[in-house]
Amino acid sequence: MALDDPRLSDAATAALALRYGADRPARLRWNPTIAGLLAHRSVRAYLPDALPEGTIETLIAAAQSASTSSNLQVWSVVAIHDADKRARLAAVAGGQKHIIEAPTILLFVADLARAHLIASDAGASAEGYDYLESYTVAAIDAALAAQNAVVAAESLGLGTVYIGALRNNPEAVAALADLPPHAAVMFGLVVGHPDPARPASVKPRLPQEVVLHQETYDLTAQREPVARYDETARAFQIAQGQQPVGWRALIISRGRDAAALNGRDRLKAALRLLGFGLR
Ligand SMILES: Cc1cc2nc3c(=O)[nH]c(=O)nc-3n(C[C@H](O)[C@H](O)[C@H](O)COP(=O)(O)O)c2cc1C
Repeated sequence: MALDDPRLSDAATAALALRYGADRPARLRWNPTIAGLLAHRSVRAYLPDALPEGTIETLIAAAQSASTSSNLQVWSVVAIHDADKRARLAAVAGGQKHIIEAPTILLFVADLARAHLIASDAGASAEGYDYLESYTVAAIDAALAAQNAVVAAESLGLGTVYIGALRNNPEAVAALADLPPHAAVMFGLVVGHPDPARPASVKPRLPQEVVLHQETYDLTAQREPVARYDETARAFQIAQGQQPVGWRALIISRGRDAAALNGRDRLKAALRLLGFGLR
C-alpha cells in the first residue's frame, strides 16, 4: 500500500481506534508525520533527567517556524529550569506535580512589549497595540508556536503538557519571569522525558461529524454523536481508573459559573494590570 493510500493500513487503523474508538473515519491518508500527530498524548509523569543539549533551541526553531500574523512575531518564551521557580509555578497551577517532576517548563508569552519598545524608540504611537485584536494576535501566535514545539518534542521522544492553569494568577507568573508591561504568559509547556513506568494514553476525541461541517454549520445534528462520544469517554475513563463521568459532564461543570474558572474569571482585569488595553 502506498504511504498515503486512503485505504486504512494496520497502523492507521490502530491509531484511529485510539483517537476515536468505534467512531472513526473510514478513509485517511497516512505518513510518519500524520502518525506522530495522531499519537499525541499529554504527559503528566516525568523522569527528572535534564533535556539533551540543543533541545530547547530545536523546540524554539520549530516554534519560530510556525506562521505568525503579518510576521509580527508577537510572542516569546521564558524557559524555566530552576527548581524553586518551578515549585512556585506548580503552586500557582493548583499543585500540578509534573511541573516539579520535569526539568523544564517553557512559559509562552503573548508579547506586545517588544512592539511597544520598537515604536517608542522610533517616537511612534503604539495605540493599535491597545486593542483586543492585538492581544488576540499575540495569543494566537503564542499558541501556534507552542504547538509546533510540542510536535517537535514528541518527534524527539520527549513528552509535554500545556499548563493553562498559570492563568490562575497571571500577575504572579509575570513577576516570577520578570516580564515587562504589555506581556503576559498564556500558558506553560512542561517538557521532559516521559516516565516509562507511568505511560500516558491517547485520549479519544469527538467523532469527526461533530467538529467537521460541510458547507454550513449544523448544531442539532451534533446531539447524537456527542452522546455516543460520552460513551467512548466513559470507557476511556474506566480504563484509566477515573470516575466514568463522560464528556458532557466536563463541559457542563467547566461552564457552570465563575468559580469553576479557578481564578481565571478575572483574566481581563489581570491582563489590563499587565498593560494590555483590550479596547
Ligand atoms: C491551552 C491548554 C492548557 C492546558 N492546561 C493544562 C493544565 O493546566 N494541566 C494539565 O494537566 N493539562 C492541561 N492541558 C492539557 C489538556 O488537558 C489535554 O490536552 C486534553 O485533556 C487532551 O488530552 P491529550 O493532550 O492527552 O490528548 C492543557 C491543554 C491546553 C491546550
